[in-house]
Amino acid sequence: AVERTLSIIKPDAVAKNVVGQIYARFEAAGLKVVAAKMKHLSRAEAEGFYAVHRERPFFKDLVDFMVSGPVMIQVLEGESAVLKNRELMGATDPKKADKGTIRADFADSIDANAVHGSDSAENAAIEVAYFFPSSEVYSR
Ligand code: CMP
Repeated sequence: AVERTLSIIKPDAVAKNVVGQIYARFEAAGLKVVAAKMKHLSRAEAEGFYAVHRERPFFKDLVDFMVSGPVMIQVLEGESAVLKNRELMGATDPKKADKGTIRADFADSIDANAVHGSDSAENAAIEVAYFFPSSEVYSR
């Protein structure tokens, strides 16, 4: 089925100037960018986005990292977009990510891991709505 997923290019990858290289991978896999913006998240925005992880030991480091610089936030649309994007990203820990994935090629650590992607269609709907009103998603 055609799905949407929320993708974030994290501060490390924006700083490395590889936004275009990552977009090219989305496009080559048949995923369309149907919404996008660059944003320097406030602490409250980052904490709200990652609220499900609030009790985890890595929460503070994760939020500190996510507010360390601007991110690129996009909605990707396509057949099986959630899974397709997760395959492109590779494992959360770049040391465990398969060769040729975004995290294997561009990430440095489990926090500075280049990209975020929704883990299910249900969470994708929540995450897309967190950053984009439906009037700013250009389904095509
Ligand atoms: P992301 O997909 O953005 O979702 C939560 C983030 O927490 C994850 O990527 C990692 O960058 C970060 N993180 C740090 N430590 C861990 C951990 N032990 N397990 C999962 N995620 C972690």
